[in-house]
Amino acid sequence: MSIVITGATGHLGRLVVEALLADGVPAHGIAAVVRDKEKAADLAERGVELRVADYDHPETLAGAFEAGDRVLLVSGNEVGRRVAQHTAVIAAAKAAGVAQLAYTGILGGPDADFDLADEHRATERLILDSGLPYTLLRNGWYTENYTDHLAPVLEHGAVVANAGDGRVASAARADYAAAAAAVLTQDGHLGTAYELSGDTAWSFTEYAAEVARQSGRPIAYTDVPAETHLSILTGAGVPAPFAAILVDVDRAIERGRLAGTSGDLARLIGRPTTPLADTVAEALRRL
Ligand SMILES: NC(=O)c1ccc[n+]([C@@H]2O[C@H](COP(=O)([O-])OP(=O)(O)OC[C@H]3O[C@@H](n4cnc5c(N)ncnc54)[C@H](OP(=O)(O)O)[C@@H]3O)[C@@H](O)[C@H]2O)c1
Repeated sequence: MSIVITGATGHLGRLVVEALLADGVPAHGIAAVVRDKEKAADLAERGVELRVADYDHPETLAGAFEAGDRVLLVSGNEVGRRVAQHTAVIAAAKAAGVAQLAYTGILGGPDADFDLADEHRATERLILDSGLPYTLLRNGWYTENYTDHLAPVLEHGAVVANAGDGRVASAARADYAAAAAAVLTQDGHLGTAYELSGDTAWSFTEYAAEVARQSGRPIAYTDVPAETHLSILTGAGVPAPFAAILVDVDRAIERGRLAGTSGDLARLIGRPTTPLADTVAEALRRL
């Protein structure tokens, strides 16, 4: 039996593998499901088992899981394809007889009423219907969704969104990864859904002020109408369908859908979540 991480060459998956190793799980007890072995060469060198599979090719998933494995399904990153992809992964996990299927869903679960949540709601349903022992990790926003894009903010002196006074209880990716590692290594998490988010919800005005404080530059939040935001995003090269999803997310933020602070994440990781200021500082260091 292994702890199996899909999407292990992605940002979150890599951090989960690191968290497992830091928690003392031996490398040979971890299997990384990857599309590209080359991309995971460093993991193999450290003793992590590689299993090659692609969500789009169900036949490749037959070798991804073994009876008794504890599996983390990291949701795919191609919006619109994910229900079919996750269906294939769940079927393979079921056929193998895994002991746990943990899934990285979205904050709010069945109550998340925005476009990006549709595939996560459908996937949760598939998992429940599969009868597999499950753990639902309903992830809120990564702070890095914003701090990875600081260059244009600094250039224009503006944080642009259509989220009004909405607040975001974001946490660092590493916090969500630590939570995933916790539910995969500890007992007592089966049949449970966690609402994972940062301890503190911030507004875009506060975010802009924090970036201004740390960078020493004048930066303000510009709250624009949704249509304006859409054209700014497409003008900057974001494909129209994805830009529409981002605008819809901001509307959801305005409605408070990503502001929940249940405390589940801090409880699972046994420490406070990473403050916004720390992730901003880290991003500014990397610029
Ligand atoms: N909560 C949030 O704020 C937030 C933000 C963005 C995304 N997400 C969701 O959380 C997931 C993890 O986030 P992330 O930052 O780690 O994303 P990421 O860096 O894009 O990683 C996605 C991973 O999924 C793998 N993958 C994609 N399609 C696949 C396929 N057909 N077969 C097998 N593997 C496939 C990728 O493989 P390769 O390495 O081979 O490309 C990659 O390892 C995302 O995929 C998305 O569903 C959440």
